[in-house]
Amino acid sequence: MGFAHVLNSGQFQLPDLQQLFKLSDKIRAYNDTKDGLMFLQGLLPHKRAMLFFSQPSTRTFLSFQSACHILGMHTSEIRDPSTSSEKKGETIEDSLRTFSSYVDLIIMRSPTPGLCERIAAMLDNTKSAVPIINAGSGPDEHPTQALLDLYTLERSFKEQGGLAGKTICMVGDLKRGRTVRSLSLLLTHYKDVTIIFCSPPEFKIASDLRTRLEKAKHISFIETTNFQDSIAAADAIYMTRIQDEYDALDPSLQQIDTTKFNLTAAHLPQLKTTCKILHPMPRRKELDTKIDADPRATYWQQQRNGMWIRTAIIANLMGVADVI
Ligand code: NCD
Repeated sequence: MGFAHVLNSGQFQLPDLQQLFKLSDKIRAYNDTKDGLMFLQGLLPHKRAMLFFSQPSTRTFLSFQSACHILGMHTSEIRDPSTSSEKKGETIEDSLRTFSSYVDLIIMRSPTPGLCERIAAMLDNTKSAVPIINAGSGPDEHPTQALLDLYTLERSFKEQGGLAGKTICMVGDLKRGRTVRSLSLLLTHYKDVTIIFCSPPEFKIASDLRTRLEKAKHISFIETTNFQDSIAAADAIYMTRIQDEYDALDPSLQQIDTTKFNLTAAHLPQLKTTCKILHPMPRRKELDTKIDADPRATYWQQQRNGMWIRTAIIANLMGVADVI
């Protein structure tokens, strides 16, 4: 395999996912020794990556930057568009075309759905085409988060016969949460997975996602407001925060009380003993910090997995996957 860009989760088929997860496993094994780390660092020391993040980010930014460094790449960054020539009225296309003439890879997060696809298509028609990675595109997609979430689920269910047949409960702002969208689409590649979408009615999944899931062969899903029953039935619970940065687009959503969808330590006895609790982070009140000490809390491993999967993605895009 090998892909030119990472733009959305719809581009991945099951063999792609399996290859990426295998590669991530190999990369994390190299991390165990200095020789292994030096080997990885020797793979791309002649390449440069740019991180262009015009929405806030902690984990995605740092795990991508670390992933570049693991492979020996140099990185540059713009995190505040008010410091770039966009401020002088430059189009986003011209800015990115400029970046592409200095670096070999662009990793970008923006509030605009579809922007990565547009930029990738534009650059593919120039002499300085470089791979583009979508690190979050507004409320639309976050494919690399979905890959790390899926990798975490796969690893978590290794002893329990894998992901096929499992029930995944997604909770929170399912309407505007891009991680839920991207992950749900990737789950369609696994046999007999059931997704329980649990949220207040105002935060139900968007109709385009519903249509895509209805058309998918293997997956079944339900939409419910019953938090207690949903968490009790789940093999994994994927908590998400309310995406209130988009409230200006629909101010009525500000008034919704979501407290009965918060997972607290008091809920723990109701969960399956094997249940895995995930969260893409950052978390707020929807996920009690008291849960951190419970063995079912999987979100810290999930964060670390992000670095390995992103290293694998970059290795793949930069053509060094085969030597790892
Ligand atoms: C997520 C995002 O940016 O969509 N965060 C992340 O990348 N880990 C989730 C969120 O912000 O709620």
